[in-house]
Formats: sequence, C-alpha cells, structure tokens
Amino acid sequence: MFRKLTLSAIAALSLTTGSAFAAGGAGHIEDFAFSFEGPFGKFDEHQLQRGLQVYTEVCAACHGLQYVPIRTLSDEGGPHLSEDQVRAYAAQNIEVYDEALEDFRPAKPSDLFPANTGADAPDLSLMAKARAGFHGPSGTGINQLVKGMGGPEYIASLLTGYTGKEKEEAGTTFYENTAFPGGWISMAPPLSDDIVEYADGHKADVHHMAEDVSAFLMWTAEPKMMARKQAGFTAVLFLTVLSVLLYLTNKRLWKPIKYGRKD
Ligand code: HEC
Repeated sequence: MFRKLTLSAIAALSLTTGSAFAAGGAGHIEDFAFSFEGPFGKFDEHQLQRGLQVYTEVCAACHGLQYVPIRTLSDEGGPHLSEDQVRAYAAQNIEVYDEALEDFRPAKPSDLFPANTGADAPDLSLMAKARAGFHGPSGTGINQLVKGMGGPEYIASLLTGYTGKEKEEAGTTFYENTAFPGGWISMAPPLSDDIVEYADGHKADVHHMAEDVSAFLMWTAEPKMMARKQAGFTAVLFLTVLSVLLYLTNKRLWKPIKYGRKD
C-alpha cells in the first residue's frame, strides 16, 4: 500500500514538473527594467500616456480593453490625464454601440473601452496578469520574485521577438516569435519603427513602443498597484512597531517572575 502511494506520488510529481518545464522552455522572455518593479516602484505617467497612444493607434485595431473604464485614464497613479483630456480622447478615438440609440456614438468617460474587433484577437485588459505565470528564461519559476519579471516582460518580449520568418498553415499565416509558446503566432508583427509619433519627442523605435505599451497594459490589468504597495508598506511598518512594543511589554510583564523581584 505504502509503496503504491509513494509510486503514484512520484508519478504525479514528475508529471507536474514535466509540464512546468514544458511551459518554461516554450519562449524566451527578456528582462525589461520597468519603473513599477520592486516594493517602491511606481508607474511612470508619461510612459503610460505613450503606451495609451500606441494601444490606441496600433493595437486597438484588433484588440479590446473591455474591462477598463475610460474615466480611469484620469486616475492619479495611472496615466493621470486631465478630465478634459479624457473627454476629448474618448470623443475622438472611440465609438461605442449605444443600445438606446441603436447606433454607434462617440464614447464618453463613463463608457468602457470597447471589446475586441479583430477576429481571434484576445482582450488585453488583463493580459499582463494572465501571462505573469511563465517560468522565466532559466525555467526555475522564481524569476518573478527575484527579478520582478512577469506579464509586462512577456508582452514586451512578444512584441520585440519576431524573427521575420513566416509560414502558412491551413490558410492562416503564422509568424515566428521567440517569446510565444510554440514559437509561431498568428498576430502579424504590429510594431515597426516610428509607426506612432510621440508628442513628447520620445524615441519611437519598436523596443521603446513595446516597453511603453506593456507598461500601459500592466496598468490596465492592475490599476490599483500603487495603492496596494502603499497599503502593504504601511502594514509592514505598523507590524514592525507593534512587534517591538509587544516584545518590550512581554519583557516587562514577566520580569518579576523571571528574576523573582518586584519593581
Ligand atoms: C491585425 C490585428 C492585430 C493587431 C493590430 C495587434 N494584434 Fe495582438 N493579437 C492578434 C491576434 C489574432 C492574436 C492571437 C494570436 C495567436 O494566438 O496566435 C493576438 C495576440 C496577442 C497577445 C496574446 C499572446 C498570447 O500569449 O496569447 C498579445 C499580448 C497581443 N496580441 C498584444 C498586442 C499589442 C500590444 C498590440 C499593439 C502593439 C497588438 N497585439 C496588435 C491580432 C492583432
């Protein structure tokens, strides 16, 4: 009985590690240095604004952001546009279907970003979180903890990982990509140098645009990251002070018993 159990435990273990290695070895993920990494990292609002521009001018042709309210573009800790800018952005760039009008109309800040338009293009609202679980270049599974590598690194590596090779299978064109699991993706390389023109004069090569749009997609997936880190920091500080106080109280309370005298 015991032997049987051990054997099945070993079998189960080798199965799980096997699949973990398979997932880890699937794509090569570069480490990018994002401003929001680490316990004190913050979103860079200018980078988020550039990322929004790349999303709007390039990715939105196929991908939706259906869980993101447009008004959150003015959030502090996010892209932090002014309310007028958000209103103008929504009216100029987005059309939503209004059930009451039974027609499309320009979007308002109270609308959500629209859902997908491109066939088979997944929604990007939560993509940066959904793809955070890869096992990193060494397949160890600890890269996320040690190097702060996660979903945004995956997206940036995906956008910069095209080799230029393509093939056709069953009527679909696939593009070779070093980051995509399996190595062949049906999304054509969306970025090329200077495909957008940044208002702040920032360099618009593929690498920078990939970084900016990945940072933006991290924000859409976790818009409250700054507040969460702040709360975590306050909690750790509070618990540290509390521990010291409890330690001293404990010492004081037990002193007469330990040393047999009263004071
Ligand atoms: C022409 C349409 C099109 C455009 C433009 C486009 N994509 Fe895609 N994207 C797709 C399709 C189709 C897929 C599904 C690919 C697959 O699963 O083989 C996809 C998949 C993805 C994925 C998911 C990969 C995965 O792990 O499943 C990400 C991330 C992504 N796109 C990001 C972007 C970003 C960022 C942009 C803008 C810079 C962009 N895409 C522009 C069509 C597009």
